[in-house]
Amino acid sequence: MGHAINIDSKLPDAGITIFTQMTNLANQHGAINLSQGFPDFEVPEALIALVEKYIHAGYNQYAPMQGVLALRERIAEKVQSLYGRSYDPVTEITVSHGATEALFAAITAVVRKGDEVLLFEPAYDSYVPAIALSGGIPVFSKLRHPQYRIDWDKVQDAISSKTRLMIFNSPHNPTGAILSDDDMDALEKIVEGSDILILSDEVYEHIVFDGRRHESMARRPALADRSFVVSSFGKTYHTTGWKIGYCLAPEPLSREFQKIHQ
Ligand SMILES: Cc1ncc(COP(=O)(O)O)c(C=O)c1O
Repeated sequence: MGHAINIDSKLPDAGITIFTQMTNLANQHGAINLSQGFPDFEVPEALIALVEKYIHAGYNQYAPMQGVLALRERIAEKVQSLYGRSYDPVTEITVSHGATEALFAAITAVVRKGDEVLLFEPAYDSYVPAIALSGGIPVFSKLRHPQYRIDWDKVQDAISSKTRLMIFNSPHNPTGAILSDDDMDALEKIVEGSDILILSDEVYEHIVFDGRRHESMARRPALADRSFVVSSFGKTYHTTGWKIGYCLAPEPLSREFQKIHQ
C-alpha cells in the first residue's frame, strides 16, 4: 500500500463560495442571478474590435511587470479627471490580474502574522482567506441594517495598536451601500496620525445611481496617501472573464505591492 500523504490544509475553513452556490441554484431554478457580480450588458463592440486588432498585430507576449505603460497612462488620466489625484503611471499604478489579484497582493504585501485587519460584514469573500494566509487576524465590524452604513463608534472601538489595515468596499457587494462624504470625514479622523493602511475595493465605482457620487479614496489626499485603490475592467467594461484590473497606491506602497505582484 502506498503512503497516505498528509495534507494539512492552509485554509481548512474555505468551502465552495456563496457565489458558486447561488449561481448553481439560479441556473437550476431558472432564477435571475443577483448573486454574482457580472454585468448583463454586452461588451462594447469597439473594445472587441480593438482587442482583435491588437491580437492580430502580435501583442500576445508578456506585458511589463507593472502593465503596459500606455494603459497605465490612460488610467492615470481617468483617475485625475474623475477624482483629482495625480498618480504617476511609472511608479504608482499597477495593472493586475483582475481586482482579486490586486486585493491579494495588497494584503500579502502589508499584513504580517498577528496583524489585525478591520473589515465590514457582510464582506466580499476573497478578503478573509488572503488575510489568513498572511497570518493576519480579521476583525469584523457589522454594517448597520437597513442602510448598511458603517457604525463609526464601533469602528473606533475595534481599532487597536495591532490594526495594520482597514478594508473598504464602496459601492458595496452585496448590499449596494456607498460611502458618503461624512463617512470619509469620519475615516480621516480615525486614521489621522496612525500607521493604519487602507485597502479600498472600488470595482463598482461606475455603478452608482440617483445622482450620488462615488467617494473614491483617491479624492482625499490624507486617505489616498495611505491607500491601495483597486478597480476592475471586468466590472467597468462587462468583461469579467478577462480578469484585468489595477491598483493605485503611493510609490512606497506600490513598491511593496509590486514585489508580490511580480
Ligand atoms: C467587491 C468585489 N471585489 C472584487 C471582485 C473581483 O473582481 P475581478 O473579477 O476583477 O477580480 C468582485 C467580483 O465579484 C467583487 O464583487
